[in-house]
Amino acid sequence: MALPRPTAQDIIIIGATGDLSRRKLLPALYELHREGELPSAGRIVGYARARLSDQDFRTLAREAVGADTIDDRNGAWLEFEQRLAFVCAREGGVPELKHRSEESKRIVYLAVPPTVHAPIVQDIAENDLVDGTRLLLEKPFGWDRASAKNLNRVLHDVFDESQIFRIDHYLAKEAVQNLLVLRFGNSLFERVWDRSVIDHVQITVAESGGIDGRGDYYETVGAGRDMAQNHLLEVLAFLTIEPPAAFDARALRDEKAKLFRAVRPLDPARTIRGQYTAGEAAGARVPAYHDEDNVDPSSSRETFMAFELFVDNWRWAGVPFYLRTGKALQRRVTEAVVAFRDVPIRLFQEAAIGDVAPNHLTFRIQPDEGVTLSIQSTMPGSALRVTPVDLHFRTAETFERESRDAYTRLLLDAMQGDQTFFARSDGIDAQWRVIQGILDDPPELCLYPAGSWGPKEADALIAPRRWHLH
Ligand code: BG6
Repeated sequence: MALPRPTAQDIIIIGATGDLSRRKLLPALYELHREGELPSAGRIVGYARARLSDQDFRTLAREAVGADTIDDRNGAWLEFEQRLAFVCAREGGVPELKHRSEESKRIVYLAVPPTVHAPIVQDIAENDLVDGTRLLLEKPFGWDRASAKNLNRVLHDVFDESQIFRIDHYLAKEAVQNLLVLRFGNSLFERVWDRSVIDHVQITVAESGGIDGRGDYYETVGAGRDMAQNHLLEVLAFLTIEPPAAFDARALRDEKAKLFRAVRPLDPARTIRGQYTAGEAAGARVPAYHDEDNVDPSSSRETFMAFELFVDNWRWAGVPFYLRTGKALQRRVTEAVVAFRDVPIRLFQEAAIGDVAPNHLTFRIQPDEGVTLSIQSTMPGSALRVTPVDLHFRTAETFERESRDAYTRLLLDAMQGDQTFFARSDGIDAQWRVIQGILDDPPELCLYPAGSWGPKEADALIAPRRWHLH
């Protein structure tokens, strides 16, 4: 069902010439335009330090979205381009931005590092651009618990919480949102969703690429701040929260905040930090992290992190959760695996072919979105033979289309003022609390070759169980 088109508003991108804007925001806005989902009126204003004219920005945007001649023929690009404007931070600054805005409502997207969030917010306040603004901030939100608290204070001095949209694009992935639908839209799962039936849970967010020339950024964050504090914990939350009283921003975010508060801070002795050395991942040569541009050759920044985690509440007490994320791993895959307890007595042990593994429910978030349930079944034949088989649901096959990119979804939600899939200040604080100890006292760094599944210490962490990927 198509949502109503957002009402007239401007879209302001701070950091408009950067990587995020080119790779994600401009293409997402163009897709929304082609689908007729952009606000009925309003400008898209790029803002950055570069000295660009409106025309230069249009050229940059055209390259970023890859508009082709077909778009020109039916006018899609030409129409989009009319909406684009650019303001240079070093020339007109925020006063000029205000001058170039057309509408009384706007979203302001901060696609810049967290260190400059606070000064930009001050600038917006001083120039009277607060009323009618919805502020979108990219993660990481702050760089530790104290800075996140401080940033929240700065924001709350100026904006109401209902105007603040803290982005974690994993929340806008349809396959992540589907975790909630599968859990709370089906009566089947709730009965088996606790410590009495579940043995453990694993979450893997693996990437095959290295840091993609983002040395400057990555040296200041590492996998802990870039992926663990946010993406990994958000996926964990959707798997573990209590059923919300309603499906709305307040109820869902109340449950998430409650859940994060129940997560025990990570134990450095049960946390593995790794860094990749040179190798080949998914068919491409990856240089060692140390040899990447803008990386200190003696850097101990982690590009991989795995940890054991516990949720100290009635539902989950004693169930171990194993989470891992890394760059330059064997392949790009994001999956959450719920591993059920074994049967009390293995009646079919004698008839088993191969491993009699307990049931696994795998949520495949990307790239091959869907769900797999592994069960035991007989094999056709004269004798009783038992073997594991998989029941599959594949989104692309069932619906004959792929999910939309998360950025189209989150921009649309923000333009509609829907905060359900954005992080709230109390949740963010509780997330930092979980990993703060590891930031203060980082465990020793282990090395792993690009193209592997990370340091062998991560396998030892989960032993005698094994990491499981579909
Ligand atoms: C971003 C991180 O938030 O997520 C990147 O900053 C990472 O380092 C990216 O590559 C992964 O996103 P996705 O959607 O490709 O899994």
